[in-house]
Amino acid sequence: MAKSYYHIRQNYGKSALNELDMPNNPLVLFEVWFDQALKDNLPDANAMVLSTAINDKPSSRIVLLKAVEEGKLIFFTNYRSRKGKEINQNPFVSLLFFWPQHERQVRIEGHSEKLASALSDEYFVSRPRESQAAAIASNQSEAIADKTRLLQTYNQLLKLDDDLKRPGYWGGYQVLPEYFEFWQGGAHRLHDRITYSKTGSGWQIGRLLP
Ligand SMILES: Cc1cc2nc3c(=O)[nH]c(=O)nc-3n(C[C@H](O)[C@H](O)[C@H](O)COP(=O)(O)O)c2cc1C
Repeated sequence: MAKSYYHIRQNYGKSALNELDMPNNPLVLFEVWFDQALKDNLPDANAMVLSTAINDKPSSRIVLLKAVEEGKLIFFTNYRSRKGKEINQNPFVSLLFFWPQHERQVRIEGHSEKLASALSDEYFVSRPRESQAAAIASNQSEAIADKTRLLQTYNQLLKLDDDLKRPGYWGGYQVLPEYFEFWQGGAHRLHDRITYSKTGSGWQIGRLLP
């Protein structure tokens, strides 16, 4: 049965981007947009699509941005997961934020590398014990028949008296951006798209047709 979604039409035009107002560093604009998303309590404002690619096949999933340190974007995951294995083979990734209430999209591309273990430890101890147990218990991305074993391991971990330690297979990645695109929805589909490409000394600013 054919289904059409042609009737879904959203109009944009809340805001605009002007080259003259753009900061030299895209991270400054990213922080402004991110802070506005937080201030307005946009749901899952720190959720981003992480795309990896190996053997010419891309794959995407959502992860949470947990920190920005010296211009590097940090998220946490299982290093043995599908994404972890793919990053191991090809560290070049893309990140995508979509804040529909603000009619904004940000695309970021760059290389990812494992976070220093001390920083992963620091974040791991800050998490609730339940989240720590889940991170330890789940061999993320492994196929299973049902959840019985996972729940057993999880419950055993929760019962232990000791603090839970971060396992070596779980930790952070930091993405070093080389490219940004800031997209702001415009009236009549005449959207603004401002790009930043990393050069030796700074960033080159450009504009793309919508
Ligand atoms: C809102 C949201 C937030 C998520 N945050 C994370 C996260 O921070 N880290 C993570 O490993 N998975 C997170 N996930 C789960 C991933 O999308 C994905 O299912 C999981 O990481 C396995 O992906 P993979 O098999 O491609 O490695 C999140 C999912 C959603 C919907």
